[in-house]
Amino acid sequence: MLPYKNLILINTDTTEPLYRQIAVQLIALIQEGKLLPGTLLPSTRTLAFDLQLHRKTITAAYDVLVSEDWVDNLPRKGYVVSSDLPLIKPRSYKKNKISAFAHKGVISFEPLDTILNPVFPLDKSRIMIDDGFPDVSLLPVTTIAKQFKKALDNVTYKAILRHGMWENSNLSVALSTFLKQTRGLDIGVENIFITRGAQMAIYIAASLIIKPGDKVIVSDPSYFIADLVFERLGAELIRVPVDSEGMCTQSIEEILQKNEVKMMYIIPHHHHPTTVTMSVERRQHMLKLIKAYDIAVIEDDYDYDFQFKYDPYLPLASGDHGGKIIYIGSLTKVLGTPFRLGYMVATTDFLDAARKLRRLIDIRGDAIIEEAAAGLINNGDLTRHIQRSNRLYAQRCDMASELISKELTDVVNFTKPTGGMALWLTFNPEFKLYDILKKAHKDGIVLSGTVYCTGKNAHLNSCRFGFASLNEKQLIEVIEVLKKASEK
Ligand SMILES: Cc1ncc(COP(=O)(O)O)c(C=O)c1O
Repeated sequence: MLPYKNLILINTDTTEPLYRQIAVQLIALIQEGKLLPGTLLPSTRTLAFDLQLHRKTITAAYDVLVSEDWVDNLPRKGYVVSSDLPLIKPRSYKKNKISAFAHKGVISFEPLDTILNPVFPLDKSRIMIDDGFPDVSLLPVTTIAKQFKKALDNVTYKAILRHGMWENSNLSVALSTFLKQTRGLDIGVENIFITRGAQMAIYIAASLIIKPGDKVIVSDPSYFIADLVFERLGAELIRVPVDSEGMCTQSIEEILQKNEVKMMYIIPHHHHPTTVTMSVERRQHMLKLIKAYDIAVIEDDYDYDFQFKYDPYLPLASGDHGGKIIYIGSLTKVLGTPFRLGYMVATTDFLDAARKLRRLIDIRGDAIIEEAAAGLINNGDLTRHIQRSNRLYAQRCDMASELISKELTDVVNFTKPTGGMALWLTFNPEFKLYDILKKAHKDGIVLSGTVYCTGKNAHLNSCRFGFASLNEKQLIEVIEVLKKASEK
């Protein structure tokens, strides 16, 4: 209910009757759109008490509103703003009044013109090719709903309230076991910090490490949103090429010999965007460099869980790095984009600072979703879901690769990845990716991930093709459309 006590001001120095003053001010509130049609006005008793006036004065004011059709007096309900207001179209009420939020450019702030929007609008498209996201139709919905219900159950809910924020929560405990079993990480629950997605973990870790002017090694190309974070923090990015074996560690060594580098950002599994997995030799070399130089490393392992071979490489963080690696992962990549859950694995002193930083923008975390995710891990449901999805994604990867090789032979180059959820398609220079996507968009297919074919990325003429969320029929259809769109 509106604070009528502060909105209706009574002037005792005028000859205008009190009931009229009240009526006029209520009409103004209706005209300004602050009291919408259908709004129940306070009872005459309540308003009289609030304004410290006699009830009869309020009744007289309401009678005016009723007689002028601003308000209806409904039996058993009370006084309600009329749905059929006099003065007609609600918009016309505000003719002379501009909303305080209609003004622009009155305060100075950083407009942040980063390029996070999709190249083409997503609305009217039949099928969306994403950046490499899970197929949410595979989610075990009933099981997940049960876990949410359990989390909301009174006893569990009260227990959640007693938890310290993010420290030793049920999800941290469950994750520490899960990560030890799946990634060979030698950690305890104290080494885990839960975030809203891997992105938040990258932002927090980088914010704690990077100072303006610091040199940061990233790959070329790299996950561009991480680049934007580092640049915003004032980092000078030093780019290192990525080839079919991953980031070129020889180049890294040369850079480290000549520069004081503060941090390195690496994605050894299914590199973003190129999807390549770093070879064993490069991994060993990388670990040697990490040990030898005074450098912090963010290892972004965003979709480790999806590896099609049964002998996946373990993360570098499972090796001997002397606490220099901050390992970041995502449950969003397993459960789907609406589930915003990520984690950071690091030394306890670093995580202590990370928690303090997160509290500046988010004081509590997402207790219910975290509790539900803990239940999914502890019951084995998460692992079963990963295994099931992995089998299907491997088939979709095969199918997409075969179709593209067959239908887009002269148009596209790519290397089939060993896991993950996307292909990295490089279009031959005579086929301008932007033009092809424009035609495909007209035909109802849209690419929602970032397209590497404009501005400073024009030379790449490449894009990520998320196959995991597309079923067989959709894969056939989108590749048919891309083929048609590439015909001269
Ligand atoms: C390489 C990479 N790292 C981190 C993220 C962020 O992951 P999340 O959705 O968990 O925030 C993404 C998202 O697509 C990504 O591609």
